[in-house]
Amino acid sequence: MALQRPKGTQDHLPDGSPKLSSDLRASAFAFVQDTARRVLERSGAQPITTPLFEEAELVKRGVGGSTDIVRKEMFTVYYFGDHGGYVLRPEGTASIVRAYLQNGLKQLPAPLKLWTHGPMFRAENVQKGRLRQFHQVDYEVLGSTDPLVDAEAIWLMWEVVRELGLTGVRVKLGSIGDPEDREAYNTYLRGLFGAHLERLSGDSKDRLERNPMRILDSKSEADQALITELGVRPMLDFLGEEARAHFGAVQAYLREWDVPFDLDPSIVRGLDYYRRTAWELHHTQVGAKSALGGGGRYDGLAEQLGGAAVPGIGWAFGIERLLLALDAEGVALPEAEGPALFLAALDEEGVGLAARLALKARAAARVEFAYRALKPGSAFKEADRRRARFAAVIGSEEAARGVLRLKALASGEQREVAFGDLGTFLREHA
Ligand code: HAM
Repeated sequence: MALQRPKGTQDHLPDGSPKLSSDLRASAFAFVQDTARRVLERSGAQPITTPLFEEAELVKRGVGGSTDIVRKEMFTVYYFGDHGGYVLRPEGTASIVRAYLQNGLKQLPAPLKLWTHGPMFRAENVQKGRLRQFHQVDYEVLGSTDPLVDAEAIWLMWEVVRELGLTGVRVKLGSIGDPEDREAYNTYLRGLFGAHLERLSGDSKDRLERNPMRILDSKSEADQALITELGVRPMLDFLGEEARAHFGAVQAYLREWDVPFDLDPSIVRGLDYYRRTAWELHHTQVGAKSALGGGGRYDGLAEQLGGAAVPGIGWAFGIERLLLALDAEGVALPEAEGPALFLAALDEEGVGLAARLALKARAAARVEFAYRALKPGSAFKEADRRRARFAAVIGSEEAARGVLRLKALASGEQREVAFGDLGTFLREHA
């Protein structure tokens, strides 16, 4: 058997591929990316790209040493047999904050809105919608603590969902408070779970010391049963005055802008850098454990990475999960378009000429050509397979007169177009 792709990765394929399911269409993937780009750039977000691998230390300090991501899911990079201390990035936020600090982006007008997209890597247990290489669209805003920035960030996610045509999406909104609020909550959780240590899963016993809030996010059914049984109080009960006021303001803006949301008092998130506003977008048909996207405020992250204090907030969508949601809802996405024109020579002498005309006409539209001479019937059939709008052929007689014989594939209508008029014709008709 020929070599196969690694487990937990996907191929996104051209339309018409034999093994294509709709969530694996490269054109659908591009459509989702383009939609997000359009929404984000309209808001003033500027593109940024960062490396696919980073210092392990960045991810450890950024995402947090107690998270599943850092403890269990890192891909380590080896080169020349040596461990370089690098890992494949599991997410984009720590890298963007690093890039902000390293490149003096504080000089740019604040708040600075940035966005990126690309592959992320987590060595997860693979299941539907849970991959080892997946892709995110990521939005980050640096330099403001204003709740209006939080609300705008959530509005932008909602706008992406709306423009994609998804209807079954819910925003789950919470706040994980300031560090001192979280400390108080952790003390409460330690006391509560500490009395039932023997019933906690091994992972959660670990979490009890390191980061007890993580227990609430446990994938173990026994842990979840205990959480329900104990009637654990939510983080929201522990918010200090400032965090509470901030959270209230975020909600007020969202109500004013008609962004529907459910308060989720127990939102945890899988990364350690969050404080205050935190949220996830869930889809009714994609499964409760598979958020389409999530985000939150991370005002302490820059200092955690050794830089000056810079408040920040952001979110990321998982593109593959958005594609699953679109598929589940049966949203018809546009197929990749065919060329405006498919051009073929009828004899070998004309192949170079047809190619030259095609290359020139590309200034006006998408034009493809045949790499060898074709009979008129085959030329039209090829054009049809490629879903071209027009097909044109050049025989020796046409070449001598400087014209193309052109056919509109939808109507079958035929006409001649002079070589020199081809660009204008395509601009007007394609
Ligand atoms: P996250 O919640 O870890 O947040 O990931 C965001 C989204 O990426 C998830 O909601 C999901 O759609 C997708 N995703 C995560 N893991 C996988 C996976 N194994 N397979 C498929 N999709 C996945 C972050 O990464 C934060 N950096 C978001 C953020 C930006 N917070 C502030 N700024």
